[in-house]
Amino acid sequence: MLRAIYPGSFDPVTYGHLDVIRRSCKIVDELIVGVLNNNAKMPLFSVEERVKMLKEVTKDLTNVKIVPFHGLLIDFARETGADVVIRGLRAITDFEYELQMSQTNHKLEPNVETMFLTTSIEYSYLSSTTVKEIAAFGGDITQFVPEAVAVKLREKMNAKGECNNE
Ligand code: PNS
Repeated sequence: MLRAIYPGSFDPVTYGHLDVIRRSCKIVDELIVGVLNNNAKMPLFSVEERVKMLKEVTKDLTNVKIVPFHGLLIDFARETGADVVIRGLRAITDFEYELQMSQTNHKLEPNVETMFLTTSIEYSYLSSTTVKEIAAFGGDITQFVPEAVAVKLREKMNAKGECNNE
């Protein structure tokens, strides 16, 4: 039984994340999508909102669970009994950070390995940060995120706009 964690902020989930989730869940028996609960990162969406959106967009995948976590990823891996951490690599710019993270995690817990999937070419430019920026300026985000997420993003941006206009 191979259990893997795909950890991230998912603020919000994009088609790039979904591509990694769909491909990984074919390789492993169980995939836990670990949603980082860390307010220091000042996420746009609360962890509950991010979990809800992920559940919605992965509801057809029977071996995928969406679970929030805080603290060290390696402690979460120990708690859930995961053998592998999966991360997506988009471009060379991701490499240094991912290398450091995987080597540090391996030093902390040698029984957990990190495996990388290179993102599909059509999503290699995509990030949650750019999607939020496009949404903030009223741009079309439907090609970057599933419809359910696009709706939530527009709602969030409208609410923020109303707050800023007060
Ligand atoms: O989507 P992100 O923001 O690139 O995901 C980063 C994440 C959540 C994988 C990383 O920040 C993380 O694992 N945080 C938990 C804290 C931790 O374990 N830090 C030590 C890793 S070197």
